[in-house]
Amino acid sequence: MNIRPRINRWTSARRDLNFARSIESSLVQPHFVVAGEGVDEEISTMPGINRQSIDVLLAQIAKDMQIGITAHMLFPVVDSHHKDATASKASSQDMPLQQAVMQLKKRYGKDIVLMTDVCLCTATDHGHCGIIHDEEIDNDLSIPELCNIALSHAEAGADYVSASDMMDGRVKAIRDTLETAGFVNTGILSYSVKYASAFYGPFREAASSSPSFGDRASHQMDIRSGYPEAILEAVTDEAEGADIIMIKPAMTYLDVVRQVSDSVARPVAVYNVSGEYSMIMSATSDVKSRAKMVREIFHSFKRAGADIIVSYHTRAAVSGKWLD
Ligand code: PBG
Repeated sequence: MNIRPRINRWTSARRDLNFARSIESSLVQPHFVVAGEGVDEEISTMPGINRQSIDVLLAQIAKDMQIGITAHMLFPVVDSHHKDATASKASSQDMPLQQAVMQLKKRYGKDIVLMTDVCLCTATDHGHCGIIHDEEIDNDLSIPELCNIALSHAEAGADYVSASDMMDGRVKAIRDTLETAGFVNTGILSYSVKYASAFYGPFREAASSSPSFGDRASHQMDIRSGYPEAILEAVTDEAEGADIIMIKPAMTYLDVVRQVSDSVARPVAVYNVSGEYSMIMSATSDVKSRAKMVREIFHSFKRAGADIIVSYHTRAAVSGKWLD
């Protein structure tokens, strides 16, 4: 089976995230997970967002859960000595990401929704999202590695594996891998409509995932492309078995969010990316005006048709009661 609508209904926390109407229930908080102990490293371009080792992350998520943030997206940050040409460490159960997922699931079970980033770029020594062959990213060589990573996240207990690589055909391959291994309740969030955007800069610093040569234009979407290609990417992923369709970035693509949300049946997510976050942080020095901006931005996402909002503003917005 490659379409399992029950995945989005499996737990009460998943149902709230996908189907409740309020902004607050739509929010997902991103985190960066690093090796070590007691690590709580600031990211200079993203004030308020830190790279954290598992112990610090668990304490942070405990506080988040207490104020009602139940959906979390985890990104691995891989030490440079663990990086290689094929991202082999990304699918290892001893890596901090997989370990963190196991511990979080043990502690919170079905009360938490965990999404985990599936891509090669943080674990390749060249920083690209796929396997390089003849100096080009090879789509079909990259798929088995993406499937290995997704499977390792499912084994650790992820609710949704989040494919952010933009290789063709990976949603179907990941669904098949999950089915074969018996992970019929594990969902796929697909970064279906992901543009080759200049707004990912701060993230790449945070995740140490910048390409050492070239760029991501051969797989991420051209910022000049129109609605038909966005809809093609979205409906293809939906047919391949994606449970959530994501558009990224968010603020500069609200028109695309509307077009896509009118074209698919599955819940639509937007990623309010690192550059968008940094822009607001540097535009405001007082919390009151920032709160108003963030509230306004979140309403624009909802109006455009977003069911789910992944945003670095989540914690501040929920704890500061910025939303209505
Ligand atoms: C990994 C990935 C990226 C982001 C999410 N997953 C970086 C990229 O594609 O270069 C960007 C998130 C952000 O900017 O907040 N492929």
